[in-house]
Amino acid sequence: MFMKRIGMLTSGGDCQALNAAMRGVVKGLSNNMDELEVYGFHNGYKGLIYGDYRLLTSADFSGILTKGGTILGSSRQPFKLMRVPDENGLDKVEAMKQTYYKLNLNCLVILGGNGTQKTANLLREEGLNVIHLPKTIDNDIYGTDVTFGFQSAINVASDAIDCIHTTAASHNRVFIVEVMGHKVGWLTLYAGVASGADIILLPEIPYDIHKVVDAINKRTQEGKGFTILAVAEGAISKEDAKLSKKEYKEKMKKTKYPSVSYEIAEKISKVTGTEVRVTVPGHTQRGGSPCPYDRALCTRLGAAAAKAILDEDYGYMIAMVDGKTKRVPLGEVAGKLKIVDPGCQMIKEAKMIGISFGD
Ligand code: F6P
Repeated sequence: MFMKRIGMLTSGGDCQALNAAMRGVVKGLSNNMDELEVYGFHNGYKGLIYGDYRLLTSADFSGILTKGGTILGSSRQPFKLMRVPDENGLDKVEAMKQTYYKLNLNCLVILGGNGTQKTANLLREEGLNVIHLPKTIDNDIYGTDVTFGFQSAINVASDAIDCIHTTAASHNRVFIVEVMGHKVGWLTLYAGVASGADIILLPEIPYDIHKVVDAINKRTQEGKGFTILAVAEGAISKEDAKLSKKEYKEKMKKTKYPSVSYEIAEKISKVTGTEVRVTVPGHTQRGGSPCPYDRALCTRLGAAAAKAILDEDYGYMIAMVDGKTKRVPLGEVAGKLKIVDPGCQMIKEAKMIGISFGD
């Protein structure tokens, strides 16, 4: 009899298609073996550390393809603290290994972003069988063309910008929509282009506020009464980009602004005298049902993860590269960030149609 026992967890910030991905893995496995036991760890690595889990049945994976969030819950367990004992002196890495061996698992399926991936790689180095699935609305995982959650978040952020468009036009205002994405600009770039933003500010292209104002004034001279800016939450000015990491952190600690967009809004207002409004869709970008693209992506990644487990070929991220699922060694990608290349085709094309990047 062919039997496997796997553990599964979702870690870090959630996103829309986590359930779809888990469903893909479990369906891919259960369809191809006699017996499967799936242990779901609650709230990410926390569940693995403290032995908080439940045995899942096929009913748990039924009807969840379209369901947002994660049926297992998630939490942030920073990688840099993994080797630091908890408040009771518990060695977290040893505790995770003990849970794994106690349950006699064949493999751990770990769904998460960059930080999660680093811990998955650490567990691999410690001798556990792991498979990682690349989740994040930020799309910043190195080694895969796309992460799941990204496309769904583009839809939400684009909807927000679309809605702002009509009200901005009515009132002749300058509007900033602040888009998530952590330290990278993928989400802002795609949502901004998809929704016809006039100015797009990304962390990868430090902005000059005078160039931003020039772009607004140009529109005004052309008779366009309003301007929409899609601003990444990690957008940075040319002056701030010259600061060291430490200096910038200090500056941000002392800032009176709730986020970068408010600072940009004030600067624009001061120079132009126009009203500037800020909209922050925030965590709505991670919420709701996964879009069909993400559902299909996760079903494919999940099935490919199941295949790797059936082959007993562990230690990989299951990536999507050139339209094909691919086993990418964790050791080659963990700790690397995929950022937007300021010289890429998409930026050039956006500039061609007149979008300003404030540079
Ligand atoms: O990584 C996903 C993400 O939504 C980022 O875009 C954002 O910077 C961060 O998580 C927000 O984290 P939290 O949910 O902990 O506030």
